[in-house]
Amino acid sequence: MADSTFNTDMVNKSSKKRSGSSDDQWDQLAATKKHHTMNKIPPPHMEDPAAALSNARHEFGEHGGVNMSIEASATFTVMEPETMRRMFNGELGPDRDFFIYSRHFNPTVLNLGRLMAALEGTEAAYCTASGMSAISSVLLQLCSSGGHVVASRTLYGGTHALLTHFLPRACNITTSFVDIRDHELVRKEIVEGKTKVLYFEAMSNPTLTVANIPELSRIAHDKGVTVVVDNTFAPMVLSPARLGADVVVHSISKYISGGADIIAGAVCGPASLVNSMMDLHQGALMLLGPTMNPKVAFELSERLPHLGLRMKEHCHRALVYATRMKKLGLKVIYPGLEDHPDHALITTIANKDYGYGGILCVDMETEENANRLMNLLQNCTQFGFMAVSLGYYETLMSCSGSSTSSEMNAEEKALAGISPGLVRMSVGYSGTLEQKWSQFEKALSRMQDLKAK
Ligand SMILES: Cc1ncc(COP(=O)(O)O)c(C=O)c1O
Repeated sequence: MADSTFNTDMVNKSSKKRSGSSDDQWDQLAATKKHHTMNKIPPPHMEDPAAALSNARHEFGEHGGVNMSIEASATFTVMEPETMRRMFNGELGPDRDFFIYSRHFNPTVLNLGRLMAALEGTEAAYCTASGMSAISSVLLQLCSSGGHVVASRTLYGGTHALLTHFLPRACNITTSFVDIRDHELVRKEIVEGKTKVLYFEAMSNPTLTVANIPELSRIAHDKGVTVVVDNTFAPMVLSPARLGADVVVHSISKYISGGADIIAGAVCGPASLVNSMMDLHQGALMLLGPTMNPKVAFELSERLPHLGLRMKEHCHRALVYATRMKKLGLKVIYPGLEDHPDHALITTIANKDYGYGGILCVDMETEENANRLMNLLQNCTQFGFMAVSLGYYETLMSCSGSSTSSEMNAEEKALAGISPGLVRMSVGYSGTLEQKWSQFEKALSRMQDLKAK
């Protein structure tokens, strides 16, 4: 399939009954549908992700509705048999409103992809059925058998397991794990010609290490290596592609969804990469098929416009709670605190006015202490829920070592800085800040009372 099938500036010329026969015919059809989109011309350097999102093309519904219609079809008609051949040849693609089959491209999913590309400042984006499918597809596309990845040793447990166990066994793709704060080591671990990808999380799960994205990108690019960054923990707050990364992956299941009701992901990157992933013969997304349902894509596209507002509140409350928890003598890890080793870095690379992220960690030292605190916070004072995941409007708490990082062995966890008593909190915005804080204080003093007995 030709390379020009997909970019974010695609002209929307919608036509119900499409023909590939002539451009005149095409333009006439397009003219009859012109009220269906509104193209806003983005200024050249649109740095703020909320502004970039607002400048993305707004798709109207089929009857002029302010929301786009859902294109729920799995397959699409053509008016002439010749059109089908031209679509499969790559001469007619979604950039001209020619769709083949929804595992390939679907207009509603594509619209969400356009919004994700605007959010991350990339040429293109493709939305997938989960964050893991976005990560595995992009790694499989960029690395062939015998390929090598240099990755941060502090990663989400599922990604760590993919790189440690699955990719070496199933695909002969190996990984060297490094401390990404040690730039010299990163440079040393890259084997020119063999290393294909430098992979890390913009803000790491669960230890909240902030990656020096500009410097790491420079190191990788010097050696011809593609930089893939998971920005699940910090949408809006950090924009890895604007800072030099090539590809940004997301678990949309988290902040972008915000409802803890959908599993979804995205690959945001150059149009050439996204197109290669959709290739009919060689594309990881096309051939592995982690397709997003258009009804889900519609739901999510309705939530992106308020992602910025939600992130500001998550981040604001996380900073207030982290500051107060520290004052109470708790061992708190939060990049917004001045004693966090990456505080100065995040201050220089974060987008203005969003804050320092909505997750904080409290190190309770032992798993027993962590469990006792979480139990009181959920079952006695209603501060939050014991649950994995993040980005929900309620506070979610989990002991990382025995849950989302349990794929790592004791040594890997120690190297990654995951203490057995580390409680990760995704700070919600339900209720009032003071109401929730008093619930936290009450649980903590109950815990101290129980200890004293
Ligand atoms: C940082 C990070 N990346 C990726 C994933 C995987 O995403 P999903 O659960 O949507 O497959 C997770 C899930 O917890 C995560 O925390």
